[in-house]
Amino acid sequence: MLTILRQNIWRVAKRDFSRAWAHTSSVHSVNEQDVEHFTKILSSPSSVISTLSPSFSSSSDLENFNADWMGKYKGHATTVLKPRTTEEVSKILKYCWERQIHVVPQGGNTGLVGGSVPIQDELVISLSNLSKVRSFDPVSGILVADAGCVLESLSEHIAPHGFIMPLDLGAKGSCQIGGNVATNAGGLRLLRYGSLHGTVLGLEVVLPDGTVLDQLSTMRKDNTGYDLKQLFIGSEGTIGIITGVSILTPPAPKSTNNVVLALPSFSNVIPVFKATRQHLSEVLSAFEYFDRTAYDLALKHGHAAPFPAEEVEGAECYVLLETSGGKKEHDDEKINTLLETLLSDEDSLILTGTLSQSPSQFASLWAIREGLTEAVSKEGKAYKYDISVPVSSFAEVVGTVRARCEEKGLISRGLVKHVIGYGHVGDGNLHLNVIASEYNDEVAQTLEPFVYEVVASHRGSISAEHGIGVMKTHALKYSKDAISRQWMRKIKDIFDSKGIMNPGKVLE
Ligand code: FAD
Ligand code: MLT
Ligand code: ZN
Repeated sequence: MLTILRQNIWRVAKRDFSRAWAHTSSVHSVNEQDVEHFTKILSSPSSVISTLSPSFSSSSDLENFNADWMGKYKGHATTVLKPRTTEEVSKILKYCWERQIHVVPQGGNTGLVGGSVPIQDELVISLSNLSKVRSFDPVSGILVADAGCVLESLSEHIAPHGFIMPLDLGAKGSCQIGGNVATNAGGLRLLRYGSLHGTVLGLEVVLPDGTVLDQLSTMRKDNTGYDLKQLFIGSEGTIGIITGVSILTPPAPKSTNNVVLALPSFSNVIPVFKATRQHLSEVLSAFEYFDRTAYDLALKHGHAAPFPAEEVEGAECYVLLETSGGKKEHDDEKINTLLETLLSDEDSLILTGTLSQSPSQFASLWAIREGLTEAVSKEGKAYKYDISVPVSSFAEVVGTVRARCEEKGLISRGLVKHVIGYGHVGDGNLHLNVIASEYNDEVAQTLEPFVYEVVASHRGSISAEHGIGVMKTHALKYSKDAISRQWMRKIKDIFDSKGIMNPGKVLE
């Protein structure tokens, strides 16, 4: 690389669970007759995993479906169904609707707000067997795929045709396109390709009563009244199960480049971002931020350092920027001019930077940023706050929350190990992570509602991209006023008057 020198799960989970479940009524647990029925309507015996089934072998089969990615939320589902077709999903929901069985749709189970796991013993409907690409048009770039296709496998499918998926996230090897749509996932390319509200062209959805809503349009333009599909983007499995997705994929850039810059002070982030936008204009495709502690954790948990330690001694934070363009010489010239400007600036906007020189270096610079979620989870138990606040206050928000933890003695007593910030500067999205030694009521009560009040004081959002799930139902009020919440409830009731879909998620 080229170096540019200038010089206890359960206690906290229980609190969330009881709060969420308190709102639901007439719970019908799955029983042996139900399992018998499911076995009849599903084409393959392996599509039913149930402790109530005579063929059930190992409870470890169920564990993965009952626990979330962070190990923070844990359900007690006895039964998981893995339908293979939209028709099978429809038959399952029709039956559950009649029997009033509560269901949880589950994709790759990489969600970070506890939305994809049961609260009690709801039926889990895993979409992982719905994994066929239905069509791809190599002229328009329009891809139609089953909801259970893994994001990375879709990237691999379209790469030979010269296209990329419009979204990219660290969980790409496990998360599914249906889960991405259900959470309205943002990720690392949003700055360039926009949100799923723009790139999703159509959806096929099985409604709670089993009706199939076919909105699987492949048209770029369709202005025929209410755009129903938008309601399902970000609905987190509360109003229907997405079974098919039509999405516009952009052409793969001919040339890509990335740079990690070490900044002496957080206050330099905005001037660097401003200069970057001015110099790189249309080729800028990502501008990501991580503070010094986040960077140190990435290195501690196995990522290669892009700089010798002595070069970044005084760094307060780092940014990773990426260019994606059509002509290498043109993009290189732009990035070099930017770097020269940042280096020649009298006020030392950057300490140093590393520009990737090969595809593997490009990947290893990205790995530092993409690997932060995993590094955090290796370090301890994370309280993850995914917020929109003005970029100028990213460091201040992290500092305020750290000060609160210090004031309550959580740091001196080792209950909180680190308070870190990273995120998507281009989208005004900060990932505030409080890394604790265990999930614990005292830590949770120190952080909430404190963090949400801080967000509200900035008129920000309590969820920029991960959604509400079970984690933030009680905090929705900080970002949505009473009238908005009432309309959300009305929409939920229109689709799911019996309340069978993902109870206790999104709305209290
Ligand atoms: P799941 O976790 O299985 O489900 C998430 C929610 O969607 C649940 O409420 C579930 O009920 C519902 N759901 C799932 N599938 C369907 C369906 N077919 N129909 C209806 N509802 C459904 N998120 C970001 O936004 N940006 C990031 O950069 C990002 N990076 C991540 C990095 C890592 C390492 C990890 C672990 C997570 C990251 N996430 C990120 C969060 C998560 O990956 C995304 O939210 C992802 O989109 C979830 O997809 P999934 O298939 O795993 O869904
Ligand atoms: C990210 O940007 O890395 C993801 O949203 C996941 C996280 O917040 O850790
Ligand atoms: Zn993110």
